Amino acid sequence: MVTTLYYFAGTGNSLACARAIPKELGETDLVPIASLREEKRIRVPTERVGIACPVHFYTLPVLVREFIPRLDLSGVKHAFLVATMGGFPGLAIAHGGELFKKAGGELHAGFTVRMFANYIAEYNVRGERSIRAMKARTELRVAQIVRIVQAGERHLERGGPFDRLLGRAVFALLGRKFVETARTRDQRFTVDPSCVHCGTCAHVCPVENIRMADKSPQWLGHCEQCFACIHFCPVAAIQVQGKPTRMRGRYQHPDVRADDIAGQRRVS
Ligand SMILES: Cc1cc2nc3c(=O)[nH]c(=O)nc-3n(C[C@H](O)[C@H](O)[C@H](O)COP(=O)(O)O)c2cc1C
Ligand code: SF4
Ligand code: SF4
Repeated sequence: MVTTLYYFAGTGNSLACARAIPKELGETDLVPIASLREEKRIRVPTERVGIACPVHFYTLPVLVREFIPRLDLSGVKHAFLVATMGGFPGLAIAHGGELFKKAGGELHAGFTVRMFANYIAEYNVRGERSIRAMKARTELRVAQIVRIVQAGERHLERGGPFDRLLGRAVFALLGRKFVETARTRDQRFTVDPSCVHCGTCAHVCPVENIRMADKSPQWLGHCEQCFACIHFCPVAAIQVQGKPTRMRGRYQHPDVRADDIAGQRRVS
């Protein structure tokens, strides 16, 4: 069965996963979700469809939440979701299921993959050793995922009753508000005088939310909160206002380049 695998990534984890899947699964077209953000209806051309993306704010990123219901799933026999995350997926898989229903289809399998956590607004992102460990862990996890997908099994990793209760509470308390304000949360991004005016931040942004004005970045208020601009700045000049992000290191998946993140703007 041929697969269309739609993906979205900020620091590359979800793209690295998306790239690893076809090695095991066979014929798969990788399509960036950001390249389809203007399309009203997207016909899935294959019998198997997958989504690979990060967990944002205990759910799926806003871009993905808006994307799934626009899929025409009439020819699809199997749908799966791979959500990469730092350790707490919240309601990501449950929401994925609801979004596939909205599109008139069904999510058969939903997986969470713990990778390097990139939410620099809340924690440090240093750690060479854990990046190496993550790569080894991801390989094993992708092999497991592909086995389940290939067998066409139903397998939804929504957690046990306690996880689901906690997920609902955290989403209700924090996640929902984050989701509602996500696009304009770029108002919190600031630029240090150390900026070398290279334009990398504008280049990587998968949704063209940065304009260079007087050689410095200006955010345009339709942000997807992927944090690519922050992590790919070569001199760590972009900060999150009110947070000690200057001290917290920066992260990019070791196999993903700035051009790969930027490349999400076009169909590959
Ligand atoms: C805005 C934002 C919100 C995040 N929220 C969560 C979260 O709720 N739970 C979690 O486990 N990780 C969270 N993360 C961490 C990412 O899900 C994780 O690092 C992911 O693998 C990044 O994938 P990417 O490199 O493809 O963007 C968040 C990251 C960002 C940037
Ligand atoms: S402005 Fe930065 S955080 Fe927002 S979508 Fe663009 S690269 Fe991602
Ligand atoms: S990537 Fe960093 S150094 Fe380059 S223009 Fe943007 S903020 Fe300035």
